[in-house]
Amino acid sequence: MQAVIAFDVYGTLIDTQGVIAELERRLTQPEKATEFARRWRDKQLEYSFRHGLMGHYLPFSECTREALVFTDRALQTGLSDNDHDHLMAVYAELPAFPDVVPALDTLRDAGMRCVAFSNGTRQAVETLLERANVLHHMDDVISVDDVKRFKPDPAVYAYLRTRLEARPEATWLISSNPFDVIGATHAGLRSAWIRRSSEAPFDPWGIEPDMTVPELETLAERLLR
Ligand code: 2OP
Repeated sequence: MQAVIAFDVYGTLIDTQGVIAELERRLTQPEKATEFARRWRDKQLEYSFRHGLMGHYLPFSECTREALVFTDRALQTGLSDNDHDHLMAVYAELPAFPDVVPALDTLRDAGMRCVAFSNGTRQAVETLLERANVLHHMDDVISVDDVKRFKPDPAVYAYLRTRLEARPEATWLISSNPFDVIGATHAGLRSAWIRRSSEAPFDPWGIEPDMTVPELETLAERLLR
């Protein structure tokens, strides 16, 4: 059986730092844009963990909006509701990393199924990947929204396997996010960490990915060996 490759979306296929240019335009102190974008992403993930632990699931885009408002308050950047709306619109139209389409085409030409697997709702992810010209290079989009849980809840990786009808040893989770890699590995899937920044640390949990590569074209080469 050919392997099935499930790709995380935000930070793996899609560059979330694409919001920095819009932040530089809207912040009275543009030099805060990079810090704002980092704290926004961190708080977005924290909110998904907290909503999940509380059994208070809501669409991931709500975590994104709540985190935007929190970061605005925390950094005292005084953004308006209109600014929030524009920034959320930018978040729905972010660029793909340049290695994504070549890697997907290489893997699918070799007969591998490639799907997107995300906290985002199916509609949000399809729109995002369509605008990034990636959607038609993929075989499907699978969202945790179907089970109303967030990564790294084991239930989402069990759902992924059910949807893919693939054996765990032939099912790969590809992510730049260590929490996702650890969650998938712990759930019995194969995993690869896309370490896009050479300085990015991994969590010292003793739960390690099957491979670590700097970008997706190297991943494709390694998977096809
Ligand atoms: C995802 O796309 C949040 O990056 C994570 O599921």
